[in-house]
Amino acid sequence: MNQEQLVYVDGKFVERSKAVVSVFDHGLLYGDGVFEGIRAYDGNVYRLADHIDRLYDSAKVIRLKVPLAKDEMTDAVLETLRRNGLRDAYIRLVVTRGTGDLGVNPTLCKNPTVFIITEPMASVLGPTEPKVVRVIYSSYRRDVVDGTSHEIKSLNYMNSILAKMEATNAGADDAILLDHRGFVSEASVSNVFLVKDGKLSTPSSAAGILHGITRARIISLCSYLGLEVAERDVTPFELNTADEAFLAGTKAEILAVGSISGVDIGTGAAGPVTKRLFVEFNKAVRNPEEGTTVYEAESVSA
Ligand SMILES: Cc1ncc(COP(=O)(O)O)c(C=O)c1O
Repeated sequence: MNQEQLVYVDGKFVERSKAVVSVFDHGLLYGDGVFEGIRAYDGNVYRLADHIDRLYDSAKVIRLKVPLAKDEMTDAVLETLRRNGLRDAYIRLVVTRGTGDLGVNPTLCKNPTVFIITEPMASVLGPTEPKVVRVIYSSYRRDVVDGTSHEIKSLNYMNSILAKMEATNAGADDAILLDHRGFVSEASVSNVFLVKDGKLSTPSSAAGILHGITRARIISLCSYLGLEVAERDVTPFELNTADEAFLAGTKAEILAVGSISGVDIGTGAAGPVTKRLFVEFNKAVRNPEEGTTVYEAESVSA
């Protein structure tokens, strides 16, 4: 496709190179805003309604009034994909506080900024095996639930960025952060699962995690497959001595954890439960009933 991709900015579709926001936008000045990372698989936006609900929940908590109704936001996402002719894509939906003065006071920002970026993205899921990653424990602790909690999917990702940099410096793929109590929280942009004796565990919301949409779907897949999952406090010891561990997120999909800070998890390869969930999750994301169709029959014009 030679034509430049279009970005939705406040109701208009703008060429990518011309898509800009003001330097006075508090999303930029203070990380004051919320966002979602979403995937489309073969013309279906996976769990779009869940992402839209989470966006509005995040906005509610930071008292940001999203200027579009949920159905208008849904249409804006679908229209951005259609205009870019994308069937397999990553979608970044952002609502910032909008422009204000140089003070932190959000009440001076009258008009939130909404933008939607879509990019082609192929899935790593399939009948094959999950990729294996090496991770470290970060020395940074996950933000606490009564602070800048990652339960809010806000534009303030410094906690994750510091952990990710630490991982990169250590030659690892990603970092797992512990919470302020020392229990396992989550990786920089994905949730963590472990498997021990055939049973799964994943940190609960007490550990300051984002309530991942992939995490929720894996929990429901487990119940469908007859696998037990506990949402509970997980110690680093339990994670290190697990038979299997994996990361789950919209962008990461499912990644097997081979080692953490030099300790092999299980055999160091993707284990049987991780492989099974990888195959099942691949089916789920391609199930039209779990998606919002981008290309309705009557709207296929491109
Ligand atoms: C901090 C964090 N945790 C977990 C996740 C996984 O969430 P989801 O499955 O909804 O993509 C993300 C995704 O971006 C994230 O940023």
